[in-house]
Amino acid sequence: MNDDKNTIEKILSLARWAPSGDNNQYWRFDPIDGLTVRVHGFDSRSHCVYDLDGHPSHISLGALLETIEIAASAESMAVDMQLDPSSVDTHPIYNLTFRRDPGMQPNPLAAVIEKRCVQRRPFTTRPLREDERQRLREAVGGRHELHLIEGFSQRLRTAKLMFHSAKLRLTIKEAYQVHAKIIEWDTRFSKDRIPDAALGASKMTLMMMRPAMKSWSRVQFLNRFLAGTWAPRIELDFLPGILCAAHFVVCAKEPPTTMQHYIEGGRALQSFWLTVTLLGLNLQPEVTPLVFTRYARQRRNFAPSAPDALRRADRVAERLGDLVGQRVSDCAVFMGRIGEGPAPTARSLRLDFKDLAHDPANEPH
Ligand SMILES: Cc1cc2nc3c(=O)[nH]c(=O)nc-3n(C[C@H](O)[C@H](O)[C@H](O)COP(=O)(O)O)c2cc1C
Repeated sequence: MNDDKNTIEKILSLARWAPSGDNNQYWRFDPIDGLTVRVHGFDSRSHCVYDLDGHPSHISLGALLETIEIAASAESMAVDMQLDPSSVDTHPIYNLTFRRDPGMQPNPLAAVIEKRCVQRRPFTTRPLREDERQRLREAVGGRHELHLIEGFSQRLRTAKLMFHSAKLRLTIKEAYQVHAKIIEWDTRFSKDRIPDAALGASKMTLMMMRPAMKSWSRVQFLNRFLAGTWAPRIELDFLPGILCAAHFVVCAKEPPTTMQHYIEGGRALQSFWLTVTLLGLNLQPEVTPLVFTRYARQRRNFAPSAPDALRRADRVAERLGDLVGQRVSDCAVFMGRIGEGPAPTARSLRLDFKDLAHDPANEPH
């Protein structure tokens, strides 16, 4: 009995290393008995412009569930996962029942769960080999497809898309309010945010960003009079956009619309990301163009601070459609870039396991 509890704690503790938007770890664990655990998911849609309809948080939850299953296999355990009927879009709950299965083969991806992380600095441009492409296509599973954007001219077009999307990101107050909260300054490691050293910016850019980000009016001043978005956009979006092996889009077979579609998408993403890591490659998500495209398509006034934001989101949507085609753009769940290169020297860490215990009086929001 105690053995089961310890094993399940070990599995969940390892699965904490699943990725989440801005490292928010909007999941909590509620042990019901030795072999049953309830996983509570939350989202940040009320205060994070990127968490459109909570879907990025649903993707994170899916990544967590996939990681739990992979981590369980390494402990010779199978796990059944059922969405609790009381779940709502803003608070999905999964009932997990673990079962010992001596015949279970450990999933090789379990070995890289903790190693997998974001690298936001440039990669080499060594193209993917055919065997790598094949492994990556298989990794997204039968319900998803992998769309790869390769070759210099296509990477250049993607870099331009990222450059434009970043201008929108850096000039709306709604995004500034998110950025101001999620960066932990002067550090290489952060348990609940993104350390500044992992942003991929040079020391010079960080020196410029830090005082500017103390207030929105300072950011506006820099943007207006000192071309403040140029340095970060070139360094964090344009150059890395060219300097990689490929950009990728994980697509569902049909346009995703529901919470469960995005949770499934998150599972596919995590299987893909762990495979990238197992192959010795790096990955950086590039999710903002997908979010702006969905805002544009739904005609939603996502940035009241900037009257022209929707028009600029239209341009991002057009560029994305021209780059990958309308079907891929409609079915996209996640986008990013991959390639060979050194591992990052700074990264997000995770909350301690005990801090992820579900407490109804203190839920993340
Ligand atoms: C749904 C989702 C969206 C994300 N979007 C971005 C993004 O647009 N840009 C980026 O650099 N990282 C993005 N990330 C990566 C997270 O910031 C990262 O996973 C988190 O900080 C934990 O760090 P780690 O993955 O290095 O452990 C995203 C992650 C998820 C799950």
